Amino acid sequence: MTGKSPQEPLPEAFSWLQEAPFFQAGLQGYSDAAMRIISRRHGSPYCVTEAMPDQFLNNGGKGLKDAELDPEDHPIAGQLMGSNPANMAKAAGILLELGYDVIDLNMACPVKRLRKNIRGGHLLNRPEEAIAILREVRQAVGSSAPLTIKLRRGFDDEQGSEKDFLRILETAIEEDYFGVTVHGRTVLQKYEGPSRWSFLRKLTRSYPQYRIMGSGDIFTPESIFEMIAETGVAAVSVARGAIGNPWIFHQAHLLLQGKEPRAPAVEEQGSVLREHFELCGRFHPENRTRNLMRKFGIKFSRHHPEPETAEKAFIDCRTIEDWWRVLEDLYENTQAGHKAVPPSS
Ligand SMILES: Cc1cc2nc3c(=O)[nH]c(=O)nc-3n(C[C@H](O)[C@H](O)[C@H](O)COP(=O)(O)O)c2cc1C
Repeated sequence: MTGKSPQEPLPEAFSWLQEAPFFQAGLQGYSDAAMRIISRRHGSPYCVTEAMPDQFLNNGGKGLKDAELDPEDHPIAGQLMGSNPANMAKAAGILLELGYDVIDLNMACPVKRLRKNIRGGHLLNRPEEAIAILREVRQAVGSSAPLTIKLRRGFDDEQGSEKDFLRILETAIEEDYFGVTVHGRTVLQKYEGPSRWSFLRKLTRSYPQYRIMGSGDIFTPESIFEMIAETGVAAVSVARGAIGNPWIFHQAHLLLQGKEPRAPAVEEQGSVLREHFELCGRFHPENRTRNLMRKFGIKFSRHHPEPETAEKAFIDCRTIEDWWRVLEDLYENTQAGHKAVPPSS
């Protein structure tokens, strides 16, 4: 069981693997079109959507509308979450019609409420069901797009967990899935404790011909290359480390060129926040933009020269006007005469 030879030409959606082996992860509640475009403009060559429940797509309506793509947002993996193979296969077809380049199946999400319908990471505990999904989605998609999966290293630390994980992984290889992203924590571990990179290393040694991508504890541009050096993964998924920190991608490119990464000046932070706001307003109604940009502002604040002041200012925002006032008071480049003006005014 060796999977594809890395010598074979890469599908177009993965041509970036040769140049910049890192990408923006799927992040529920964050990795919408606005965050993805900001990440791309800073050098992320590929992005994953947040996990989309299959029924949201199959039932049409808002879920389907939210899945529409911007022309700037490629190459992209649409990530699906569900438990019924036929429904997952149908949703995969919808994503392809919408123009997604890759279909990614989420078998990693640890949220407890998914346990009832055996979705996300709970499938790691039910390998037969996971395998049925992998096969049916492959059947439906055929060779029209690359398929990938997102896994955690197991459901828990019980003995059978790794065996179940390997059965799912080996089915993905047999069914010609392009690759797998493995988060080195168990489902039960959620986000407690470190991601076990030694597990990633074991996988890349056991399946040297397969594309294992790594996830977990990537908070600096340096850690991307540390993970590659330590584990031999083909690419690194940047998750929490990219929220409110699109610069991590540019800094990773600088490291690739042998240059020193630099921290963003406060004016640059302000202009990226403004850009993020404008994108958010393009994709979401006003109340959602307000909530999202408050949340993102809090995450961006850690780069501000006075992080606590900036964080508190964003936390205290109740209206869009409050948000723009924070930008004006704390981020405006007064020397250059920039004014933080809402895009619509
Ligand atoms: C708020 C949040 C939402 C997430 N949502 C998703 C998701 O929708 N799809 C997915 O594959 N992973 C999701 N993840 C997992 C991340 O992609 C990543 O695997 C995990 O955070 C470990 O990487 P890190 O330690 O570098 O953050 C989420 C993580 C967080 C913190």
